[in-house]
Amino acid sequence: HMTAATTSRRVLLAAPRGYCAGVDRAVIAVEKALEQYGAPIYVRKEIVHNKYVVRTLEKKGAVFVDETEEVPEGNIVIFSAHGVAPVVHEEAAERRLASIDATCPLVTKVHKEAVRFANEDYDILLIGHEGHEEVVGTMGEAPERIHLVDGPDDVASVKVRDESKVVWLSQTTLSVDETMATVGQLKDRFPALVSPPSDDICYATQNRQVAVKQIAAESELVIVVGSKNSSNSKRLVDVALDAGARASHLVDGADEIAEAWLEGVSTIGLTSGASVPEILVEGVLEWLAERGFADVEVVRSVEESIQFSLPKELRRDLRTEA
Ligand code: F3S
Repeated sequence: HMTAATTSRRVLLAAPRGYCAGVDRAVIAVEKALEQYGAPIYVRKEIVHNKYVVRTLEKKGAVFVDETEEVPEGNIVIFSAHGVAPVVHEEAAERRLASIDATCPLVTKVHKEAVRFANEDYDILLIGHEGHEEVVGTMGEAPERIHLVDGPDDVASVKVRDESKVVWLSQTTLSVDETMATVGQLKDRFPALVSPPSDDICYATQNRQVAVKQIAAESELVIVVGSKNSSNSKRLVDVALDAGARASHLVDGADEIAEAWLEGVSTIGLTSGASVPEILVEGVLEWLAERGFADVEVVRSVEESIQFSLPKELRRDLRTEA
């Protein structure tokens, strides 16, 4: 079915890719809240770090704000999948807001670890990216005990009270390989360093990195669909380059792909971050097909079946209604 000219042009489509269980739950939470209570529904920060998702929810009546104080008193506010510091819950209560917490359960797990180790008087070395919402939220659980380590370059300057009582935790959306390198350096500095009881880098982040590695070495170009502020999406670009892709670019959608990237390329790897709806990947596939890359091979590395139930505040009201 293919002509000789096009047989050499193909797309390797990574699987799994796109929506994780935490993003799916957070987006559905906003949609259900709009149906249940009517617009406007206020959302503190981007519900997930994806432009298309945010714009689509805005059209349905969601109002995105940066801070709780921007929400008129007595309204409903949804907290994003990245989680919030305890002080944000307090602010919401002071403004008599009804809050729906869409924090991903796997972020909440890290918050709980932070609280437990802080209570046991550990100094906590949180590996993560400065200023990222998830890091701000986690640090808010124990600001006086948590020290941010933003990559290997930060290791030398970390100061702790007692070198025999330190534990490391991490943001959920980091590069697994880079994090392990940072942990190795931290262990050299603090031989007694304790590791978290289970992985903080979540299953979705890990699986998407494993999947992109499988296609990267065979691809001259790897396109990652995702927004510029999406941590896990940006890591997919890093991982693709480390795994042997000659070039890799992060795009919000097909309209951001440059024709020049395709020059001399016969195999293109394609994947998407955990906050990216499949429709955007379909758009890229169409764009590529129009340029001769119509042969698409799905390369699956792992099956995913994880799902999370909706935030409890919402489940309660949906139940009452039924
Ligand atoms: Fe949760 Fe991981 Fe997604 S922490 S929101 S499952 S990327």
